[in-house]
Amino acid sequence: MSQKREQWGSKLGFILAATGSAVGIGNIWKYPSIAGQNGGGAFTLIYLVCIFIVGLSIVVAEFVIGRKTQLSPVGAFEKLAPNSNWKWVGYLGVASAFVILSFYGVVGGWILKYIIDSISGGFSSLSGNPEVAGTVFDSFVTSSFSPILYQVLFMGFCIFVIVQGVKGGIEKWSKIMMPIIIVLLGVLAIRGMTLEGGMEGLSFLFNPRFEDLTASAIVLALGHSFFTVSLGMGTMITYGSYLDKKQNLMTSAVWVIFLDTAIAMLAGVAIFTTVFALGANPAEGPGLIFVILPSIFPQLAGGAIWGTLFFILLFMAALTSAISILEVVTAYFIDQKGWSRKKATIQFGGIITIVGVFCSLSLGGGINLTGFLGMPFFDVMDYLSSKYMLPIGGMLTAIFILNKWGLKEYMNELRQGMDNMSLSENLIKIFLIIAATIVAFIIFNEIYFAIVGKALIG
Ligand code: PHE
Repeated sequence: MSQKREQWGSKLGFILAATGSAVGIGNIWKYPSIAGQNGGGAFTLIYLVCIFIVGLSIVVAEFVIGRKTQLSPVGAFEKLAPNSNWKWVGYLGVASAFVILSFYGVVGGWILKYIIDSISGGFSSLSGNPEVAGTVFDSFVTSSFSPILYQVLFMGFCIFVIVQGVKGGIEKWSKIMMPIIIVLLGVLAIRGMTLEGGMEGLSFLFNPRFEDLTASAIVLALGHSFFTVSLGMGTMITYGSYLDKKQNLMTSAVWVIFLDTAIAMLAGVAIFTTVFALGANPAEGPGLIFVILPSIFPQLAGGAIWGTLFFILLFMAALTSAISILEVVTAYFIDQKGWSRKKATIQFGGIITIVGVFCSLSLGGGINLTGFLGMPFFDVMDYLSSKYMLPIGGMLTAIFILNKWGLKEYMNELRQGMDNMSLSENLIKIFLIIAATIVAFIIFNEIYFAIVGKALIG
């Protein structure tokens, strides 16, 4: 640990890297499909409340812990609470990284395959025919070899970026890819809005339909607010640990959350305007991206280009998130075990890829890996991480600050870099308490549901 810690090259570079982590498949795939199915604007309203109360408090908390300790999660908790069990919150983060990246890498591979299909004109045979598009998608993901090939390729990109380090890898690539994502999405959204009938998509996405907003949609909004801002597993602790005292952590967090939300909505606009203009089914849920879109892109003038641009931007969004997950694992082995960056990244990138192979095969490619929850291993990994591991990690982080580390110390660190901005300690305290309480309630509800088979709410 005598080496000097790597640092971000600029304030903007850090914000783009953290936004890159936040903006991912969750924004472009999950948000539009769940908002569309759960009350449109009504869901968005709940989601905004969750993200600004719970999300903001935990992003700031993670940045503060990371910058204070200049360490990744395990070392960070150990440093602030030596010889206690709090370091297990850090280990939970490292475990979550394994779990999430194993299935995230598989989806990243699917995206690569769809880029290639779109370029080679493969979508044209799906034109106007979502059933065929659905069969093509199913037969691809349930086959053994091809999805694995693409998954390995996607993980190769992640390893390639992380090996180059914080400034030369993560920051450099985020600075290139994030502006491209925003521009491409903007172009696609304008294209969608100018299509005849496209504007109807906007009312589907934004008009509040309170009758569709069930209590379980509220639970969904909260869980999603963790996943979409990469919270609860120490990603933001790790990224915060490469910061100096000059960065204003509060405004940085507001930027990350604002951009994450704006990009999710822009994606929703781009997708639903196109879906409505071409008369496709907007409430398709998860099939929206891999089934509905490939069947409607060929109907647009220049469809192959629009399709390719869309999947390229989705790939970039997935990659900037996936690298942040791998960085949590890499940083653990660098900080705690003294490994070199290269060794840690290649070995653990490789191991996560192997776990991911099992996720992919569990969808039907030869191995019957039905997990203990009675669903494929792939779904188990998704379910465990977004429903339990991330919210629990986030809740414990808030409790740690309130009950162990102490608000005084926390505020001292947070105030550095804030210049004259005033910040009430009580307000921060109330936000952290609300965040921990809401999450505790939701997790309790989930556990109760898993055991008793019916939810307390929803
Ligand atoms: N935030 C990413 C997304 O929206 C996913 C992610 C979760 C990344 C946890 C890092 C950590 O897709």
